[in-house]
Amino acid sequence: MKLNKAIAVYFSPTGNSRKCALATAGVIGRNIEEIDLTKEGSFDEDMKFDINDFIVFAAPVYGGRLFKGFAQMLHNMNGNYAKCIGIVTFGNRDYDDALLEMKNLLIDSHFIPLGFGAVVGRHTYGHIQVDRPNNADLENCRVLAKGLLDKIEKGVFTIPEVKGNFPYKDGGNGGSFYPQTDDKCKMCGLCAESCPQGAISFDDFKTIDTEKCISCFRCIRICPFGAKNVTTKEYLDFAEMFSKKLSEPKEDELFV
Ligand SMILES: Cc1cc2nc3c(=O)[nH]c(=O)nc-3n(C[C@H](O)[C@H](O)[C@H](O)COP(=O)(O)O)c2cc1C
Ligand code: SF4
Ligand code: SF4
Repeated sequence: MKLNKAIAVYFSPTGNSRKCALATAGVIGRNIEEIDLTKEGSFDEDMKFDINDFIVFAAPVYGGRLFKGFAQMLHNMNGNYAKCIGIVTFGNRDYDDALLEMKNLLIDSHFIPLGFGAVVGRHTYGHIQVDRPNNADLENCRVLAKGLLDKIEKGVFTIPEVKGNFPYKDGGNGGSFYPQTDDKCKMCGLCAESCPQGAISFDDFKTIDTEKCISCFRCIRICPFGAKNVTTKEYLDFAEMFSKKLSEPKEDELFV
């Protein structure tokens, strides 16, 4: 069968899932269409997929689940039976039920998921696997894509089993470490523009609505001047403890 084009669809506040989506989609087609669902308001209800498109979905694990906002977007899509790969990236703790949740959502939204990956990426908090996804992780993404192309070539359209339990564990919410802004802030507004939750005030860029903030740390990573950070003792103690606890590298897992 002939595949039309490769589309990378991702929610990726700190960029790990985007890297994995692009590495995977790159094997399938040269001209990759990117649908970045990270920015607030980027979801388009009328998004259309063709049965001959090949889609790569990628998103982070939040508390062993998909982030609720992204799960809702998947729920609202109509895949028109396009074939796809589902990838979750996790910060070297565990992906628990997130991949199973992604698989079930993709099937319910009329996609045909032929392969799945759980790939380690730098954890949002502390200093955990800071160079991942590295070349070996991205190579695993490519291996996954090749496995899929092989399946399609052979006319094998089985949907693989993945690790995870249903009912799912509680999770999918954000964290509760809210960034502060110091005097290095130049008021450029980049952080407010890119916050997935619209939680940063466009009036002063220093005020964060803690009801909306999910502690994704996108604003911290994106600020060119290093003006946003979490410096509370509570966070620093947690980050130190967590970084020690998760210092042993985990392996990626592929399901084809
Ligand atoms: C609120 C929150 C919860 C998280 N929960 C988990 C988790 O349960 N297991 C894990 O291994 N990593 C967890 N992480 C780390 C992210 O899954 C990981 O860093 C991911 O690769 C980030 O993807 P992105 O760069 O595409 O945003 C969490 C991160 C955040 C912000
Ligand atoms: S990105 Fe940084 S410098 Fe720009 S407004 Fe936000 S905190 Fe200030
Ligand atoms: S304000 Fe909160 S939700 Fe917005 S980018 Fe920063 S950490 Fe993420």
